[in-house]
Amino acid sequence: MKLLILHGPNLNLLGTREPGIYGKLTLAEINSTLVKLSAELGCELSFLQSNSEGELIDAIQDAAQHCSGILINPAAYTHTSIAIRDALAAVGLPCVEVHLSNIHNREPFRHVSMIAPVTIGQICGFGGDSYLLALRALFNYVKTK
Ligand code: DQA
Repeated sequence: MKLLILHGPNLNLLGTREPGIYGKLTLAEINSTLVKLSAELGCELSFLQSNSEGELIDAIQDAAQHCSGILINPAAYTHTSIAIRDALAAVGLPCVEVHLSNIHNREPFRHVSMIAPVTIGQICGFGGDSYLLALRALFNYVKTK
């Protein structure tokens, strides 16, 4: 099983970006915890971080050829991107939406996700653990489907 991990804009700055909200883990550290978990579960991961909406969409379209599922933290595009939502709906791969922070107890504009309606589910508020919970959930979903 191969799963695609997508990180949206500004997540390359994790570690130094508003650590009171997003924690102190860097993106490389988060990715390495995911690789470790994938080895336990028995799946293969590929990773992309991009600050560009088009590049994320290209990766989603490409995943249809070689992946069984997508884990995505769309970052700020969560709240704005109908284009990313449409790409996920178009490829139809099972998808889990992840956020480090709890977007529902933050500013009102973060309470709405354009992406959530085309996902299996959303996990938010657990910092780096959100990613690990999401990977387990996506893996189990794909495996038992
Ligand atoms: C985020 C939450 C978004 O609202 C924000 O724009 C981000 C990060 C999170 O992981 O908590 O960039 O997706």
